[in-house]
Amino acid sequence: MHGGTAPPILRVSGVTAGYGDIQVLWGVDLAVPAGEIVSIVGPNGAGKTTLLLAISGMVRARGGSIHFEGEDITGASPDRIVRKRLIHVPEGRRLFPTLSVRDNLLLGAYAREDGAEEIARDLELVYSIFPILKERSEQGATTMSGGEQQMCAIGRGIMARPKLLLIDELSLGLSPKALEVLAESLLKINREGISILLVEQDVMTAFELASTAYVLESGKVRMSGRTETLIEDAAVRAAYLGH
Ligand SMILES: Nc1ncnc2c1ncn2[C@@H]1O[C@H](COP(=O)(O)OP(=O)(O)O)[C@@H](O)[C@H]1O
Ligand SMILES: [Mg+2]
Repeated sequence: MHGGTAPPILRVSGVTAGYGDIQVLWGVDLAVPAGEIVSIVGPNGAGKTTLLLAISGMVRARGGSIHFEGEDITGASPDRIVRKRLIHVPEGRRLFPTLSVRDNLLLGAYAREDGAEEIARDLELVYSIFPILKERSEQGATTMSGGEQQMCAIGRGIMARPKLLLIDELSLGLSPKALEVLAESLLKINREGISILLVEQDVMTAFELASTAYVLESGKVRMSGRTETLIEDAAVRAAYLGH
């Protein structure tokens, strides 16, 4: 949806976070309108992963607040956040190497309270978005290519029946061809009504997919706006698009 009028499904307000004595996030504000794809770009070490971890409850927000569907989830446990169907696809995929593709996918459904029938239906949904995963369903998940493993990690996220999917570094280690296929799949997932907050190093891909983007640098939002506007911004072009 590119209207920009939908109420936010996620609102991050003034969030600060860090590790021990190191402060990483310095008052981050961000919103994801319901039904949209929003991207976060920025250099290595900017705090993008930390921000996603704070949203999914795996890193504690030391200040500020996080609201999901209007409800304050600041300080909620990761498990509680998963049950609200806010689902994190981690950087580096984190598949279980001893398990098959199918069993990795089914692990995504662990917290669901609906029935086996609904879970089976969503497995078919994942296989319809990523047909190769059906072919490889009995294969060890980490024996697949990087692109296929990323499909499996995203598929596992879909098995949790997300309302909002956080995806950290879609393109990490992927060929341009594999990235293209995965980017296309995110549009399909979004058309299923799933909102997406995407952290992505490939700024062109991030801007093409998203309606809105945030540029995070040194733990602060340096710039944000509609992607069609940001793409014309001279500073963004110089720093991130190489011209
Ligand atoms: N577990 C950790 N302990 C200490 N410092 C960390 C930890 N994880 C990340 N950092 C530091 O936090 C900063 C932001 O990291 P990160 O959120 O991973 O950035 P990005 O995802 O944008 O590359 C970096 O300086 C990184 O070294
Ligand atoms: Mg990261």
